[in-house]
Amino acid sequence: MRRYSRITGTGSYLPPRKLTNSDLVAALAAKGIETSDDWIVERTGIRARHFADAGVFSSDLGLEAAKNALQAAGCSAQDIDLLIVATSTPDMVFPSTACILQNKLGANGCPAFDVQAVCSGFIYALSIADAMIQTGAANRALVIGAEVFSRILDFTDRTTCVLFGDGAGAVVLEASDTPGILASDLHADGKHVDILCVPGHVSGGAVLGDPLLKMDGQAVFKLAVGVLEDTARAALEKAGKTAADIDWLIPHQANIRIMQSTAKRLKLSMDKVVVTVDQHGNTSAASIPLALDSAVRSGKVKRGETLLLEGVGGGFTWGAVLLNL
Ligand code: UT7
Repeated sequence: MRRYSRITGTGSYLPPRKLTNSDLVAALAAKGIETSDDWIVERTGIRARHFADAGVFSSDLGLEAAKNALQAAGCSAQDIDLLIVATSTPDMVFPSTACILQNKLGANGCPAFDVQAVCSGFIYALSIADAMIQTGAANRALVIGAEVFSRILDFTDRTTCVLFGDGAGAVVLEASDTPGILASDLHADGKHVDILCVPGHVSGGAVLGDPLLKMDGQAVFKLAVGVLEDTARAALEKAGKTAADIDWLIPHQANIRIMQSTAKRLKLSMDKVVVTVDQHGNTSAASIPLALDSAVRSGKVKRGETLLLEGVGGGFTWGAVLLNL
């Protein structure tokens, strides 16, 4: 009998400090940076984001999301035999945020590692966990996306600092006789490294190069709308399905206009798209599991439904996972 993997619980966590556009506009105005609620809403769909307080790390946000996912799945930290954290804002250079989180959670002993694929990180991590469960290398995985992007924002650059937020989402993925994950599709093209990056690095006890996020928004936008359609169609084809089989599209939450474009290209109504970018902003690797968990907990997305999760981000990386919940 074929072995599949299936999501048995979802969880998420947002740091309590919420900044509406008005809050951010006022804070930026005090520094002489001009922006407006109208511009942010019209160009991105974002109305608010959450920022973690000083001293709160990706592992702390991921820990809370993981606990919520474990509770939803009805299992404990000791039942986990694989832990993957997708993040581009790790607690330290090393060890991995996954190892730090594993210790905080008390899931010590199982393999734990980070995946770095920026905003596609959760899709990459979910695909890896699925593959490891299918081969029998793991039985019950905790897959987490956790970010504190507020730490790498340049608050003098209005073209990027209004876009991102902090948060975490998690799923428990278990071996199952029935699918589960139906197909996944992953890609990267390193020739686009420069259009979305944090170029700084640590060398000889100092940070060399700019440690803050740089983005050519228009270049990212154009690439994103093309690859999100392609990867959605590729994942559907691998599973022998069409866009008409999708109950819910849960895309990376970067910009409502990118989501509208993807839905239009796939001939899906926006009623079938889970949207949280308005309340969370772009939380990079956390955005998809955050959106999934909020849709599950609100009762919008139900067990048995077919979901297409898809992400795109720095690298350039992109990918999709098609699954039955
Ligand atoms: O998560 C990884 C993936 N990331 C993404 O998917 C992001 C993709 N890109 C985008 O979402 C959009 O390109 C942005 C939201 C970043 C920008 O939207 P846009 O419609 O592409 O705007 P633009 O860059 O063409 O800028 C239009 C104008 C410019 O002024 P001029 O040159 O027309 O006078 C900007 O200087 O808007 C100006 N502008 C702003 N104005 C007020 C840029 N940022 C702001 C701002 N407030 N915050």
